[in-house]
Amino acid sequence: MTPAVKAFFDEATNTVSYVVREPQGTACAIIDSVLDFDHAAGRTSTESADAIAAWVKAEGLRVEWILESHVHADHLSAAPYLQEQLGGKIGIGDRITVVQDTFGKIFNEGTEFQRDGSQFDRLFREGDSFMIGQLRGEVLHTPGHTPACLTYVIGDAAFVGDTLFMPDFGTARCDFPGGSSADLFNSIQKILALPDETRIFVGHDYKAPGRDDYAWETTVGEQKALNVHVGAGRSIEEFVEMRDARDATLGMPRLILPSLQVNMRAGQMPEPDDQGDVFLKIPVNKI
Ligand SMILES: [Fe+2]
Repeated sequence: MTPAVKAFFDEATNTVSYVVREPQGTACAIIDSVLDFDHAAGRTSTESADAIAAWVKAEGLRVEWILESHVHADHLSAAPYLQEQLGGKIGIGDRITVVQDTFGKIFNEGTEFQRDGSQFDRLFREGDSFMIGQLRGEVLHTPGHTPACLTYVIGDAAFVGDTLFMPDFGTARCDFPGGSSADLFNSIQKILALPDETRIFVGHDYKAPGRDDYAWETTVGEQKALNVHVGAGRSIEEFVEMRDARDATLGMPRLILPSLQVNMRAGQMPEPDDQGDVFLKIPVNKI
């Protein structure tokens, strides 16, 4: 089955959100939504999410799933906001518990922060499948960028999150706590084992040298031939050496601290204090 895919690009965080829908029918899933966040002001807004919600409503679609490829470190998820507006179940990888454990410690969360993934409606693991109306989705566990990363294969379309980027940009960083460049290489081999004509939709785009436009759709065949980090039969040793050296030069994403605290709670803010005010923490010299 060939699902229709609509992309929404958030230039502030270079994130691509997707709505994937049945070819005939009204069921859809939203993948990797964005809640806008002005870090300097500590203020959220829903412009990006509202654009998705307005489109879904205008098309007369029924949201069955709100999916996360992983706990993002560069933007806040709008999953709970969209669920309130549109319904649907929020899903993520079952290894979220590892991520919650790691960052629960880093942010010194109390016992009220559950580390069992219970903030989400569904925890997926390798080999699971799910339905979007008549459309079947399959789950690949593709760790490396984070331990809980998933790829959702829906019909002929693979939503790879932050594993592969466009062929001219390469791959995602692997230096966050729990990341592993060797794991990422092996995960990418699973994606590249899909049929060559499989459409790949990436989670971010940053343009690339010689390319002036944003892009987010490619194929397995193109990635195998052309990906600058893993294409043309690159070995795991070459990849790990290149990836680790490159990661050592990268600064942290601008929104990593707020993003992790919110996204590990399925997009919810931490509990308000006794005045009803919500605060995010800045752990000093921890990350
Ligand atoms: Fe990410």
